[in-house]
Amino acid sequence: MKTEFRPARVQEMDEIYLMGYDAWSYGRPVEKYLAECRASKNYQSCRWFVLCDGAILRSSILIHTFDPWGEQLVRGIGSVATQLEFRRHGYGNIIVKSALSYLMREENPEIIFLYSDIGEAFYKRHGFLALATQYQTKQTATLMVRMLPEYDPTVVEQYKRNIPGYF
Ligand SMILES: CC(C)(COP(=O)(O)OP(=O)(O)OC[C@H]1O[C@@H](n2cnc3c(N)ncnc32)[C@H](O)[C@@H]1OP(=O)(O)O)[C@@H](O)C(=O)NCCC(=O)NCCS
Repeated sequence: MKTEFRPARVQEMDEIYLMGYDAWSYGRPVEKYLAECRASKNYQSCRWFVLCDGAILRSSILIHTFDPWGEQLVRGIGSVATQLEFRRHGYGNIIVKSALSYLMREENPEIIFLYSDIGEAFYKRHGFLALATQYQTKQTATLMVRMLPEYDPTVVEQYKRNIPGYF
């Protein structure tokens, strides 16, 4: 079966939220966690995508659209998660790669942010680098950016007030 990257469907959202339950529930019961995900303004304001094999969902990811920095389009990727039983089979890497290909093909943003809860190595493989300490906004996650054609510190400094908070 061919693995497909596509927009999530409404009826898939609970399954998608549960992919990250172990990482983001912080001990909350499933129903409470789901209720908060369903009500989340952050989650509602972004686009969700899945990686699937037919009806089997493997991984999910969200894409945020932020205000442009001058002429430069700014996007964010987040909430990358793979179903527990399918982890460490490469799906996480595939969905990040697919989301980046999709973004470059459809929207061609110059700047893509993410907050990594799992250190830097996983996202460095996809061209992201950690911003300097003075731009970091959260203690438990690392703000990383992929900027094209190349990282430009003067742009980051100029627009530092527009750096997205944890999403
Ligand atoms: C992170 C996650 C999406 C990776 O998905 P996956 O399908 O297992 O990814 P892949 O098989 O492509 O790659 C696995 C790599 O993820 C990285 N990784 C996974 N969990 C990690 C963690 N807790 N800390 C650091 N790196 C981690 C490792 O580099 C690992 O490579 P390895 O197997 O060679 O050690 C998955 O572990 C998950 O859903 N975790 C819970 C949600 C979460 O924390 N998401 C990250 C948000 S920034």
